[in-house]
Amino acid sequence: MSRDGSESADGSRAARLAVCPATPDDLPEIVRVYLAAYAQPPWCERNDPTHSRMYLEWLLGIPDSQCLVVTDAAAGNGTDRVYGLVMSAPRTPAEFYEDWERICHPLPQGWPRLPTATNTIGYLYELAVDPPWQGHGLGGRLLDAVLQALTGLGAELIALRSSERAAVAVGLYEQRGFTRWPLRERRQPDARWWQRRTTSPARD
Ligand SMILES: CC(C)(COP(=O)(O)OP(=O)(O)OC[C@H]1O[C@@H](n2cnc3c(N)ncnc32)[C@H](O)[C@@H]1OP(=O)(O)O)[C@@H](O)C(=O)NCCC(=O)NCCS
Repeated sequence: MSRDGSESADGSRAARLAVCPATPDDLPEIVRVYLAAYAQPPWCERNDPTHSRMYLEWLLGIPDSQCLVVTDAAAGNGTDRVYGLVMSAPRTPAEFYEDWERICHPLPQGWPRLPTATNTIGYLYELAVDPPWQGHGLGGRLLDAVLQALTGLGAELIALRSSERAAVAVGLYEQRGFTRWPLRERRQPDARWWQRRTTSPARD
């Protein structure tokens, strides 16, 4: 905080923030950050807070889902602020194929091959950083942390769906070694599906 109590985000303050698993108390802050991040360009979404909360609660309730948040770990007063979040959960190959059948143009060579021996595809549902704190490395740290966590859980493949319009997110995914699957959606031509192998040993 500055002397007048206003907040200024900077790299050294951002570096002191910690990435840790979310607790149920973080939900209101998770909703706030989600709404604020998607209200900005290129999304400019005016999401309804009640429905957003329901959606995020649903994500948190998926078995084996993970939510990591950036917080000021030093605060320790039970009202920690959330600066960023990443939400993931395992999905099965069958769920991917079901989605692709439903929303994508068929590919002449067939759908991309997915690991079938285990249901260990880590799917990134959400990545968001509070707008005043964007550009200070928090998104990258969240992505690194979730990749490490999912690799530790035995995921062979990490996947996500995003939009080509989200230039910053696209840059981050490319930096972290994600590549696009050659999928095109019927109703959302700018949507892209991304994948990255982990270092976990392949089991099929
Ligand atoms: C995507 C998002 C999470 C990134 O968070 P962040 O904290 O700003 O990310 P970082 O600071 O770690 O990294 C941003 C990188 O993009 C670069 N960048 C910044 N603006 C950019 C732009 N307009 N175009 C391309 N790259 C850009 C930064 O230089 C940085 O790269 P660097 O690590 O080489 O310096 C954040 O922008 C966000 O919440 N966006 C809205 C929600 C969203 O789009 N989520 C992803 C949906 S799939």
